[in-house]
Amino acid sequence: MAWKKAELLAALKELRDRTDELMGLLDQQEDGVDVAPESSWSFPYTPESGSCTASFRIASETALRALLNPVQYVFECLTGGSETKALVALVQSGAPDQLGKQETLSIDELASRCKAVPDRLRAVIRISARLGILQETKPLSDVWTHTPHSLVLRKDSSAPIWAMTSWSQAFVTKIMDKVPDLVSQENAGKTGVELACGKASVFEILSEPQNADLSTYFNLTMKASSPFMAGGVADDYPWEQFGRDATVVDVGGGIGSQMIVVAKKHPKMQFVVQDLEHVCQGGRKFWQTQMPDDMSRRVHFQAHDFYTPQPVELPNNLRPSVYWMRWIIHDWDDDKAIKILQALRHSVQPGAKLLLGEFVVTEHLSKVAAQWMLSMLLYGGTERTEHEYGVLLAASGWKITKLYKTRSPLDIIECEAI
Ligand SMILES: C[S@@+](CC[C@H](N)C(=O)[O-])C[C@H]1O[C@@H](n2cnc3c(N)ncnc32)[C@H](O)[C@@H]1O
Repeated sequence: MAWKKAELLAALKELRDRTDELMGLLDQQEDGVDVAPESSWSFPYTPESGSCTASFRIASETALRALLNPVQYVFECLTGGSETKALVALVQSGAPDQLGKQETLSIDELASRCKAVPDRLRAVIRISARLGILQETKPLSDVWTHTPHSLVLRKDSSAPIWAMTSWSQAFVTKIMDKVPDLVSQENAGKTGVELACGKASVFEILSEPQNADLSTYFNLTMKASSPFMAGGVADDYPWEQFGRDATVVDVGGGIGSQMIVVAKKHPKMQFVVQDLEHVCQGGRKFWQTQMPDDMSRRVHFQAHDFYTPQPVELPNNLRPSVYWMRWIIHDWDDDKAIKILQALRHSVQPGAKLLLGEFVVTEHLSKVAAQWMLSMLLYGGTERTEHEYGVLLAASGWKITKLYKTRSPLDIIECEAI
């Protein structure tokens, strides 16, 4: 295979241009600027930063691909899953919690606290440290300390991302094995969940009483994604257009974690979070025990199956100003997605507004969208392009009025009932 110098140079030039762009954005921004705590990992915190960071990432990946031997590159892609497993093992060993936030510990001390085999824990930690999760105080000293990225894996982190490792180990691993089978024609029409568990949908599994822990891990995983999703949702969509006292109906809202940042930013807004009864129970408990009164007072849970028409009345006689659905439509195939959208459409007047929070597929798939695309395939849903959303919505009595790109990886598809 001929070595193409021009391709490598183009990739490196692209990376340099994207670096300049990002530095330009940083230059315009004051240090210590006030950002929503939930968004604090995305800098620079400007509306353009989302697409700029995405372009930088694509450019750096392209440049690296051009620099590496192609076989090495593919070899590394095929072993990528080991990083996920190492992180699952790290969290399940208890190391992020056993190591104090400011502490430094040798591998033997840490392994003893975790009741772990030192050599094996060290291997798991070394893999994690390459990702910036824990670090050695000096190169090869075998004395370890936290990094900002390992701190978020502690159980006391405000984003319970640790729960994602339990969700991954208890459920995702099991169904991921089915991906190759899923692609085969003989399984057309079946989901990965059906092939692995014999159940129609992941939500059926989560509603079974014996899977209460699994359901908690799932809901906490949803909540954990708020830090890097909800800031963009709150800041880059004009929620104020619905009025100070507006009521947002969060359909399939889980425990309502997506609305935390919007509720903070709009202190008079009310929220009705609808989900299956067992999820609403967890949601009520979460808001009552973990959120301040002035916020939990404004969040009302209502059991509702989104395949059925909207309830005639909302709690507290509230009247809906806008409907919000994050990561609902992508969970389902076209037929089921249309049923959900139609059930809502039949309950509202022309002109009613619906906002879908989704990853809209573009030519360059973001890393998180690519990862979720596989999960959605396993659940029976899919990530869609703007055009595909348009077709789905038109078949259900809605039209897209605007696509909002936010500084988070989440896009907002604004729709109106026709
Ligand atoms: C991917 S989660 C998204 C949760 C929430 N919107 C968020 O972004 O954090 C999908 C949600 O749909 C809910 N769900 C599934 N089937 C449902 C149904 N038939 N009616 C209402 N909610 C349902 C699940 O319980 C779950 O909370």
